[in-house]
Amino acid sequence: MTQSDSVSPYPEPANGRGENANPPLQQAQGKGLPAFDEDKPLLSASGVSKFYGSRIGCEDVSIDIWPGEVLAVVGESGSGKTTLLNCISTRLMPTTGTVTYRMRDGHIRDLYRMGEAERRFLMRTDWGFVHQNPADGLRMTVSAGANVGERLMATGARHYGDIRATAGDWLGRVEIAEDRIDDQPRAFSGGMRQRLQIARNLVTGPRLVFMDEPTGGLDVSVQARLLDLLRGLVTDLGLAVVVVTHDLAVARLLSHRMVVMKDGRVIETGLTDRVLDDPRAPYTQLLVSSILQA
Ligand SMILES: Nc1ncnc2c1ncn2[C@@H]1O[C@H](COP(=O)(O)OP(=O)(O)O)[C@@H](O)[C@H]1O
Ligand SMILES: [Mg+2]
Repeated sequence: MTQSDSVSPYPEPANGRGENANPPLQQAQGKGLPAFDEDKPLLSASGVSKFYGSRIGCEDVSIDIWPGEVLAVVGESGSGKTTLLNCISTRLMPTTGTVTYRMRDGHIRDLYRMGEAERRFLMRTDWGFVHQNPADGLRMTVSAGANVGERLMATGARHYGDIRATAGDWLGRVEIAEDRIDDQPRAFSGGMRQRLQIARNLVTGPRLVFMDEPTGGLDVSVQARLLDLLRGLVTDLGLAVVVVTHDLAVARLLSHRMVVMKDGRVIETGLTDRVLDDPRAPYTQLLVSSILQA
């Protein structure tokens, strides 16, 4: 059984699926974030489990991600956040369960039945993946401009001048001085590298971006600036984002909706402000109060 019994007196289902038909963002007010304009989920995971041998990575997770929605996946270390993120972004095949995606042409596709070439194209164009460690998402020994331009070329851009101009423009948008365009990211600070990784991911105009602890490796002051920047970009671009974080402050600032995981399972879900201000599952109450005391 799921733990939905423990939250059953409340309207939101524990499995993260918006079973009350209204897209949850239409209820999200006051964040200055865009309401999404489409009425079907972009991505749906259903009954996703991943076992590493006998060890549980994540178990029986069902979530929907709506266009333009920022969904935070929170929980302590080892709760299955990264496993879930990798399963829904096709980086790790689930042991059981299905993940579907609504393509730009409106067709809903099973991601694990898609051909490899098509899946890779999707990942390079319609999706982004921001790693905690920028070195995992960048090519450290080619220039900043080439890091951004390379993704652009995956969408068919060929004109050198245009690619360079767009790359320069994106460096500006992530607050990297344009005169650093020919420098390699290994010459950049951690914060700059992370901003470059973000530019590389966003330049293709993705609809969905996955982020695994995007501010996790940075100093606190650098984190705050990056979060501000991310929030602005996500709002401007109307991106759907799944952001994994153990930091509830990140979830508070960025996300519309939250999923709380424990031992591989989703134990609570709801609008971010509701979950943080009025946590219902005892474990979420513990998580929220221990962070506040920290
Ligand atoms: N490659 C792996 N092999 C074996 N066990 C793993 C592997 N990756 C993760 N796990 C286990 O799966 C569980 C969930 O891990 P993970 O998804 O990394 O959690 P989180 O991202 O919340 O810290 C943990 O018990 C972890 O030890
Ligand atoms: Mg993790």
